Amino acid sequence: MLRLAPIGRRVVQQRSAAAFSSAAEVNVGTGVYQHFSDQDRIFTNLYGEQDWRLGDAMKRGDWHKTKEIMWMGPDAIVQEIKDSGLRGRGGAGFPSGLKWSFMPKNSDGRPSFLVVNADESEPGTCKDREIMRKDPHKLVEGCLIAGYAMRARAAYVYIRGEYFNEATVLDEAIHEAYAAGFLGKNACGSGYDFDMFLHRGAGAYICGEETALIESLEGRQGKPRLKPPFPAGVGVFGCPSTVTNVETIAVAPTILRRGADWFAGFGNPNNRGTKLFGISGHVNNPCVVEESMSIPLQELIEKHCGGMRNGWDSLQACIPGGSSVPVLNKDQCDVALMEFDDLRAKGSGLGTAAVTMFDDSVDMISGIRRLAHFYKHESCGQCTPCREGTGWLETILKRMEKGEADKREIPMLEEISRQIEGHTICALGDAAAWPVQGLTRHFSGDIEKRIDDVANGEYDPNAAFQSAWSGQAFDNKDWVEEHGGGMAYGSAGERLY
Ligand SMILES: Cc1cc2nc3c(=O)[nH]c(=O)nc-3n(C[C@H](O)[C@H](O)[C@H](O)COP(=O)(O)O)c2cc1C
Ligand code: SF4
Repeated sequence: MLRLAPIGRRVVQQRSAAAFSSAAEVNVGTGVYQHFSDQDRIFTNLYGEQDWRLGDAMKRGDWHKTKEIMWMGPDAIVQEIKDSGLRGRGGAGFPSGLKWSFMPKNSDGRPSFLVVNADESEPGTCKDREIMRKDPHKLVEGCLIAGYAMRARAAYVYIRGEYFNEATVLDEAIHEAYAAGFLGKNACGSGYDFDMFLHRGAGAYICGEETALIESLEGRQGKPRLKPPFPAGVGVFGCPSTVTNVETIAVAPTILRRGADWFAGFGNPNNRGTKLFGISGHVNNPCVVEESMSIPLQELIEKHCGGMRNGWDSLQACIPGGSSVPVLNKDQCDVALMEFDDLRAKGSGLGTAAVTMFDDSVDMISGIRRLAHFYKHESCGQCTPCREGTGWLETILKRMEKGEADKREIPMLEEISRQIEGHTICALGDAAAWPVQGLTRHFSGDIEKRIDDVANGEYDPNAAFQSAWSGQAFDNKDWVEEHGGGMAYGSAGERLY
């Protein structure tokens, strides 16, 4: 039955999402990952086999009956997203429909804004990049639909500075959408006015934290704000805002076209839907791939990455959700499911679903020390536990890496991480603490052994670590002879030899 519902001054029809797909298109899963097939993929141009531009995007189904979806009305759209079980893809996994529902239904005179977080600076994470450069119209259409569902006046996409090509493509896609009448006044003929702006950041990990992002968008240093007030009350430019991840927004149109039941058919309860996984490390074929939530880690690696380069048994550890979640050991990896709840139960997390696989050639102390350096470097310095503690973590780990620590420092390291965790303005403090806790939980034995081996003269750290640059003059004459026709040029274009 069609019902009429007022939205502002407009009168629109309310319909159910299932009305926008024929029965044949809807492939309702059963709640288990095995039923995932190519037809179930949302991101059908993830590998850039077709053009990213509007023409090909529309052939892939983007912008199909967008007006009709909007005419469901904001509350029906939010309900459909709630029913789909979609949880935020930016790291924390907060239920998206619920988050959208926090936006004010009636304006107090201030406009509302959707802010898309395209900062993607978590080490190992590169999934949003693929959406923006290969399938940008999924994000542009998602902004209109999600923005409308939040009664937002406009969307701001905050993209990390290093994503130059992605910003260029996305900017062009936004222009295409305006030219086609899909954005701007009376967007898609829906009667709703909606604008979209792209803002390039300068490249700072902390600007991915939602309130730091808002500060940066407003032109200030990207330093997180104390909450409350939360962005839904006071966000960008002092107006109600929702900050949400690229993937979260980009999947929304397809969910609404194919129906909440379809999306909820993948994955275990509370962990629904399809998901982009970005897999790197010691696998044969590192890739970004869309799969069903709750797929076993081993299955994911074997199916899409051609397995570990030296076989599954060579696996030493895995960081399953971007560098800020604790590392899993081999036993846990054997039985891990790629979902929020199972990974949390194992003391880690799904995070951004950036999976880094470590084989037994890796010095895990060194690996986590390198991450500690990253977090120390990226701390904005506002909170003492984070500003000072991240430096302490790195200093101790540097010594542990060389076996120059005292074994009593292992619990001290853990204790410092506990003093950072939960005692800071933003979650960067937690992100710095958790990898270290993963190390002390699973690899304390390695730290102790390193200390013993150095004491016994069985391990020479200077021989174990290769410097990036030996300090010798760089001479590539042989290479130039072979591949460069014997000619090399300096930075000013002058002939070197
Ligand atoms: C230090 C830090 C960096 C973050 N970086 C990102 C990021 O690059 N992209 C992102 O979507 N979320 C990032 N987040 C999470 C955001 O604060 C926010 O939770 C997320 O954008 C919400 O989107 P979602 O609801 O769609 O998951 C970061 C959080 C912290 C603490
Ligand atoms: S936790 Fe670290 S990054 Fe976050 S506000 Fe405090 S000092 Fe800045």
